[in-house]
Amino acid sequence: MKRIGIMTTGGDCSGLNTAIQRIYQGAKLKGWKVFGLLDGTDGLCETPPKVIEFDDGTLPIENARLSGSFLHNGRAEALNFETAIKRGKINQFNKKLRKSLLELNLDALILVGGNGSLSLAWCNKEIYAGLQLICIPKTIDMDIPLTDATIGFDTAVQQLTSFCDQLMLTARSHHRWFVVQSMGRDCGQLALHAGIAIGAKAILIPEIKFDINSLIANIKKADTDYGIILVSEGISLRGHSGRPADMISRKLTALGIANRTAFPEHTQRVGDTTAADRILATRMADCALNAIENQETYVMTAIQNNVCKTISLNEFFNAGEITDDPKISSMKTSDSYVSPDNPLLQIAVDMGIYIGEIK
Ligand code: F6P
Repeated sequence: MKRIGIMTTGGDCSGLNTAIQRIYQGAKLKGWKVFGLLDGTDGLCETPPKVIEFDDGTLPIENARLSGSFLHNGRAEALNFETAIKRGKINQFNKKLRKSLLELNLDALILVGGNGSLSLAWCNKEIYAGLQLICIPKTIDMDIPLTDATIGFDTAVQQLTSFCDQLMLTARSHHRWFVVQSMGRDCGQLALHAGIAIGAKAILIPEIKFDINSLIANIKKADTDYGIILVSEGISLRGHSGRPADMISRKLTALGIANRTAFPEHTQRVGDTTAADRILATRMADCALNAIENQETYVMTAIQNNVCKTISLNEFFNAGEITDDPKISSMKTSDSYVSPDNPLLQIAVDMGIYIGEIK
């Protein structure tokens, strides 16, 4: 009987519990034991490691749609890869992880994480030697190379869309604009998708340079005196500091354009998991279990041309733009961004949305 572990790391999002529940359900049919590693790598650093064994009552089906991770993702300030590097304790940390994994005597570990967690797992692969490491990509940022979908993204787009839909009504009542700041780190996928969904008047994303005067000219010549300007948190405006939405808002105010700012923040990471995210989580859970059965290791599940398959972590890592963490240069992540040939960009232009200085 195989012993498999599940761990959720990095920021939470919707769809994690669906993935966890489906992994348990599928593994049970195969006669495997399933263990939930609590609090991500932080929990593995505890003595003894924080772990629970699943049974039918652990995560009931009706709770699988809820956001967050039932297994927790760990405290940001606790000992994890990032804080261990910062505190010069990375060797100690890696040894502890290895020791805990050996103690748990797992055949396989399913790691549900973002590009940071996946990159770190690949760069520190010796920690997982001797067990099968299968990763499942999740993130609201959609910045993981080689997969067309990540768990949590669809729900985040829906949450941001609903947030903006509501604001549109008050914007109309008061003849004013809302500058809404989305999450996404330095990747504009979330803002781009929600911006198209709501019919924003402008979408500003880190991948495309924008000109503040062109933005303002577009707002002034708009056929309405209200609407949404959706800005991704990763944009910057030369000579200005502070939150991007505030910077844009100040410029508009200075020119007499009535506006307010709004920050949906972590509401983008919660909300009932959409059907699309539940289906994605289910497909990825099934693919991960098959990968275990096929003796694969150091792989990640991915959607490519609507097929759910595994790709090697090596391939994942080398397909993205390998960047240094801004705070920790020895920490490398493999990132993907909105590519210049993304069809949504031209669609936005055709819809009259200001998307920046597109060539
Ligand atoms: O990576 C996911 C994400 O939600 C980003 O979009 C955002 O910048 C960040 O995490 C927020 O992190 P925290 O939960 O630590 O505030």
